[in-house]
Amino acid sequence: MKNKYLYIETFGCQMNVHDSEQMAVLLAGIGYKLTEDSRKADLILINTCSIREKAEQKAFSELGRLMKLKEEKPNLIIGFAGCLAQHLGAKVHSRMKNVDLVLGTHNIHRLPEMVAAIQKERKKITQIDFSSKIHSLNVFAPPPKGSLCSFVSIMQGCDNYCAYCVVPYLRGPEMSRIPEDIIDEIQKLTRHGVKEVTLLGQNVNSYGKKLDHGCNFVSLIKKISDIDGIDRIRFTTSHPKDLSDELIDCFAGVPKLCNHIHLPVQSGSNRILKLMNRGYSSEEYLRKIDRLRDTCPQISITSDIIVGFPGETQKDYQETIDMMEKIRFDSVFSFKYSERKGTAAQKLQGKLPEAEIKHRLKELQALQDRHTQEKNTALEGRVEEVLVEARSRNSEHDMMGRTRSWRIVNFKGGPELIGNRVNVEITCGYLHSLRGKMIDH
Ligand code: SAH
Ligand code: SF4
Ligand code: F3S
Repeated sequence: MKNKYLYIETFGCQMNVHDSEQMAVLLAGIGYKLTEDSRKADLILINTCSIREKAEQKAFSELGRLMKLKEEKPNLIIGFAGCLAQHLGAKVHSRMKNVDLVLGTHNIHRLPEMVAAIQKERKKITQIDFSSKIHSLNVFAPPPKGSLCSFVSIMQGCDNYCAYCVVPYLRGPEMSRIPEDIIDEIQKLTRHGVKEVTLLGQNVNSYGKKLDHGCNFVSLIKKISDIDGIDRIRFTTSHPKDLSDELIDCFAGVPKLCNHIHLPVQSGSNRILKLMNRGYSSEEYLRKIDRLRDTCPQISITSDIIVGFPGETQKDYQETIDMMEKIRFDSVFSFKYSERKGTAAQKLQGKLPEAEIKHRLKELQALQDRHTQEKNTALEGRVEEVLVEARSRNSEHDMMGRTRSWRIVNFKGGPELIGNRVNVEITCGYLHSLRGKMIDH
């Protein structure tokens, strides 16, 4: 049988990356081999994101480029998957004649069957139904050879309906995987050499709420911590409103849990937080930060911030800046507010001019860069545990790995160190990485 080739392009968050890995595994089952050359492909999948307008534009421009390949290769199958596919449904077919398959976020497990039908009948398919069960998360995608770190989805969907956000509409209601399936997947990962897992979900703190297993997020972490072969545990994303004291205590009580938390604040203004439907005040957020730092003084705290939410006044924006000054995050992902169809924020008054949003974002990012640099410089002279992942991109004589606080460290060493946890003395803190000197392993 002639080899068939699959080319996948992925946009968006880690969940999409994980979905693409699962798609590749499912398609390998019907004879498709992955290729990095789109011209060689018999099947092209674009796994899209819809979180902000820019993400949509990127997916469309890539689709435009890849669709041209079909002019030379009429049998090429083109699939449009992920959140933007879920949002647009059959409209994709009328806008883009060369697309064969539109695949929503709950239908990944049906991919082989649909691709086979297209191969046979050359018909166009749209599949965007939501399911009341979790199907695809249990597809085991072996990590790429040599991977030490892996993402594990513990839940799908979201029930929070933050006013600006499309995720609940595109990924459906929150559903948790049963703990046995998660543990089983992590045990399999350890047999492939994985030592560090990052538990994934839109709001991991509410893991298990709808399960009748009596297993909440803290008990899940403890169960994972008992797995031999796993050295480090991380999770993302935590919603501040559901961050319990019990979970905070894990940063002191569960040695394998890394000292990093990504805790998106979105804004420092109570008025805006309310309009965003976030369910906490800036005072409550600050109290959680204090408790995190009291429990684990070395914890690294990162966050997401949206600038220019409808009605954000100069005073609201200043409150975000003041909060950043008070907290001094280790790093922040900041975004310009992007209006999304169908969300509650779309109906709000007081849209800000683009130039003002740009100005605020630039200023906020400059402030955060100063804080990040300060934090990284403060690590100079300290010894950090680094899990050595690969050769450094900067030099063939260097290796790279991450600290438990999620910082990248480059240091002199050879590939025999890969997979080891080594102690590295930090010699220089830059904005995006650290430089160090290995002292032992
Ligand atoms: N579930 C996670 C993250 C989801 S999306 C959480 O609640 O934290 C990642 C980030 O994208 C969000 O934290 C938010 O800062 C940003 N984001 C989401 N929708 C957006 C929008 N419409 N415009 C700008 N940024 C947005
Ligand atoms: Fe979106 Fe809010 Fe859900 Fe995060 S918690 S995915 S921001 S609705
Ligand atoms: Fe994007 Fe969907 Fe993730 S909208 S951020 S790919 S959940």
